[in-house]
Amino acid sequence: MQLEKITRAYGEVRMPGDKSISHRGVMLGALGDGTTEIEGFLMGADCLSTIDCFRNMGIGIEVSQERVLVHGKGLKGLRQPERQLYTGNSGTTTRLLCGLLAGQPFDASITGDASICKRPMNRVINPLTEMGARFSGEFCPLTVHGAPLHGIRYRMPVASAQVKTALLLAGLYAQGETVVRESEKSRDHTERMLASMGADIRVDGLDVAVRACDRLEAQKIRVPGDISSAAFFLVLGAVLPNSEITLLDVGVNPTRTGVIDVLREMGADIRLENMHEQNREPVADITVCSSALHGTAIGGALIPRLIDELPIIAVAAAFATGKTVIRDAQELKVKETNRIRAVVDEFKKCGVDVTETKDGMVIRGGRPVHGAAFKSYGDHRMAMSLAVLAQMAEGASSLDDADCVSISYPGFFEDLHRLGL
Ligand code: S3P
Repeated sequence: MQLEKITRAYGEVRMPGDKSISHRGVMLGALGDGTTEIEGFLMGADCLSTIDCFRNMGIGIEVSQERVLVHGKGLKGLRQPERQLYTGNSGTTTRLLCGLLAGQPFDASITGDASICKRPMNRVINPLTEMGARFSGEFCPLTVHGAPLHGIRYRMPVASAQVKTALLLAGLYAQGETVVRESEKSRDHTERMLASMGADIRVDGLDVAVRACDRLEAQKIRVPGDISSAAFFLVLGAVLPNSEITLLDVGVNPTRTGVIDVLREMGADIRLENMHEQNREPVADITVCSSALHGTAIGGALIPRLIDELPIIAVAAAFATGKTVIRDAQELKVKETNRIRAVVDEFKKCGVDVTETKDGMVIRGGRPVHGAAFKSYGDHRMAMSLAVLAQMAEGASSLDDADCVSISYPGFFEDLHRLGL
């Protein structure tokens, strides 16, 4: 794909549904009694992989433009998959399934694409094994041998919502209480959704405790727009002069809003309006206007609140004056690609002063940025970050494998072209 510099960005756009909430809607809906209706479901490739896996386990799921209907069969209603479960590029589907399948009365094998087969599964396999689970394999393809589980108290070494959720799902099938203690608070959509379905779940600071229950109540879910998708336009609108972009109906759960905090700290002019709640999730319209950005320091408890947004935050840093230091972000190395290495290599092609560190990077912003032949590494968030970078750089750029944006934002380029002037 060819991309040119644009001079400003202006307009209003509705973000695609939140990826994390869409996955959870299907998974928990499948375990509910009755039909869960999901409006605003993200029709991205990752969430479609989740639908495919649950259909493979006997769950009826109707998909239309307006809504997804998940005909739940209750906590004991899943049946052994007919075929190997295929999770595509989706780490969330893969790791959450490991937890959910651990306590089922059947065996199931899971695999995904080349990227998934390289991503670490030990982070879920180890604690689940402590609960009594049995696995063959440490990477995909792997087999989960359903087994009786017992609750544990687990202190998580990395802040990961996927690990936390895998353990909570296993905890729904375990004898006694399962308590997960996080090192830093990660996204809590699972806790909110389980609570609204009537699960026996308790949150106390960094501890989350769950016990088995008899039933989960089906519900109607309206999925808010994904703040991780909104982040690309927040940066575009903040950096390009004379720009103003409004993003409608975006989820602003405080475990996800690190990108807003950091951009504001860098000097961005961001306004939240029409704050309201949908299914226990805070939602708002977000408006960003251009302003002069300066560098900042990002690390510690902020990292899990913006982990997926770090590549696009790095783009903002390239156009900000002064130094931005990103640390404590070693998790980026085990995402869809090594996002530290990928950002550093791509930034060097277009004149950005960037240095890789052991747990992040240092960017000295404000130098002229020119177009280049960018590589996406088949990683949707790298592709969208580089597309935004290319539209703000001098001259022409190209981007390979741009189609991978369909993992989380199928209409990304249409929206980008509509807002760009
Ligand atoms: C997700 C959790 C995060 C995030 C991913 C979605 C989730 O992963 O990066 O895109 O829906 O639970 P980790 O749990 O590995 O940090």
